[in-house]
Amino acid sequence: MSFAAAPPAPSTARLVPAIAERHAELVAWRRDLHAHPELGYAEERTSRVVAERLAAFGLDPDVGLAKTGVVATIQGRAPGPAIALRADLDALPMPEENTFAHASKHPGRMHACGHDGHTTMLLAAARHLAEHPDFAGTVHVVFQPAEEGGAGGRVMIEEGLLDRFPAEQVFGLHNWPALPAGEMAVHAGPVMAAADLFVITVEGRGGHAAMPHQTRDPIIGGAQLVSALQTLVSRTVDPTDPAVLSVTAFNGGSAHNVIPSRVELKGTVRTFSPAAQDAIEAGMKRLTAQICAGLGLEGRVDYRRTYPATVNTRDEAELAARAAARVVGAERVHRHLPPSMGGEDFAFMLRARPGCYVWLGTGAGPDSPPLHHPRYDFHDAMLPVGASYWVSLVETRLPLSA
Ligand code: NI
Repeated sequence: MSFAAAPPAPSTARLVPAIAERHAELVAWRRDLHAHPELGYAEERTSRVVAERLAAFGLDPDVGLAKTGVVATIQGRAPGPAIALRADLDALPMPEENTFAHASKHPGRMHACGHDGHTTMLLAAARHLAEHPDFAGTVHVVFQPAEEGGAGGRVMIEEGLLDRFPAEQVFGLHNWPALPAGEMAVHAGPVMAAADLFVITVEGRGGHAAMPHQTRDPIIGGAQLVSALQTLVSRTVDPTDPAVLSVTAFNGGSAHNVIPSRVELKGTVRTFSPAAQDAIEAGMKRLTAQICAGLGLEGRVDYRRTYPATVNTRDEAELAARAAARVVGAERVHRHLPPSMGGEDFAFMLRARPGCYVWLGTGAGPDSPPLHHPRYDFHDAMLPVGASYWVSLVETRLPLSA
């Protein structure tokens, strides 16, 4: 494996020297994970590699929360509060189109969200903190499975994460290619949206397309619903409160001359506030029932709330912004970027404890592929920056008294 292509970290960043010196090693760790992507709850190799590295740092990793989760505890030189730092382990079920040496060796799986980078940065921080426990308190490093739709964060909490590893505050990080490398974003309040899924089934009566009066045409009902559902965002949600409703599948029918007996619509709803979420769910059920009833059809809504909104608490956001400023400079820490309508299961940890989830800018120019793109690759230059942020956060939150 060659590391020659790894670009240097931005010269403006003030890195932890001992981390910056081992940049090439971090690149090797990250590319090894990238080449071996594993899906949610099946991150067995990844989990083993993480646990072996933590053990090599002299830590005593716990493996098995949410199947493949790994947690290790680092004690500072002095007593103090406990905090948790979290990274995610899983990859996506999609083929990779990159052809470089560290491209996925597993067809149909890809680290297209940079969780390989997140895992590497937290490992690098864990090694540094284990070697230099210059803080007053306890740091739990949490490597979580199944972020991509599997709610691994929720499962870790349900299985006792915060009882076994009590933390007063929780912190997360995601790489953000839309933000230039060397910049960070810290939100006080919502940062990622609640992500809900819906399936609407419209039942009618099938028949001959030339004799529609003998049928109850579910395609007409489905089509009217697609349009009407858009009024939920424009007419039931406060216009200053962002919301998205996307119908992403419309399935039904098979022949030119047959009216089918049912169609199925699928899609997603993204919101930040419980008020918007409740209004859309209730409105979808109302419109489906009444539009279908008006057309002599039967409509059914299966509405599932998956990830809640990811909402940072104000004090922890201030703390994270100070820690980020120590690494990238205060002028490169954005405090007022609009939140993303993407979903994130760190939301579950933030519902259990105060904390902050930050964005680490990893954009490498206008052509750098976005998250979940088949040619995405984590920006290796940013490994020491993210790892230094974690160390800065620990030293900011848990300072040793002079
Ligand atoms: Ni992700």
